[in-house]
Amino acid sequence: MNIQLTVNGTRHDLDVEARRTLADALRDDLGLTGTHLGCEHGVCGACTVLIDGGPVRACLMLAVQADGSSITTVEGMAGDDGSLHPLQEAFSTHHGLQCGFCTPGMLMSALDLLHREERPCRARIREELSGNICRCTGYAGIVDAVEAAAAEMAVETGPA
Ligand code: FES
Ligand code: FES
Repeated sequence: MNIQLTVNGTRHDLDVEARRTLADALRDDLGLTGTHLGCEHGVCGACTVLIDGGPVRACLMLAVQADGSSITTVEGMAGDDGSLHPLQEAFSTHHGLQCGFCTPGMLMSALDLLHREERPCRARIREELSGNICRCTGYAGIVDAVEAAAAEMAVETGPA
């Protein structure tokens, strides 16, 4: 089937089998391997991407279901000049990653949260990231990172 996806601002026309998952289309057809596949059945959150601004498990969605959508993957977080997003900087500074396998999904979920809430408390951050599993680094550094990034982004945005 012919579909059209806009990924990180770039439009792509793809010819995919109806059974192809969005995760496979992103990784194998578009070469965007930053979207990771862990469980492949909706449990770990590693494959989380934003579709039309909302978080979706790319392993559970068929590429054809995303036809016409605007998708953000972890590759779309950095600036055009290569500068890291405040969340990416904060994950590095606050030891929010070890092996990094869960990190793209964590970043996508955290980005969604910070789009909706400017300064979420630690409990809210934990709640919002509860669908993302990290097997190695522990969650304290991840929560620290999201909290720090929220503060940084609030400063950048300034008072309303
Ligand atoms: Fe999609 Fe685990 S790979 S939720
Ligand atoms: Fe290794 Fe989270 S940093 S799974």
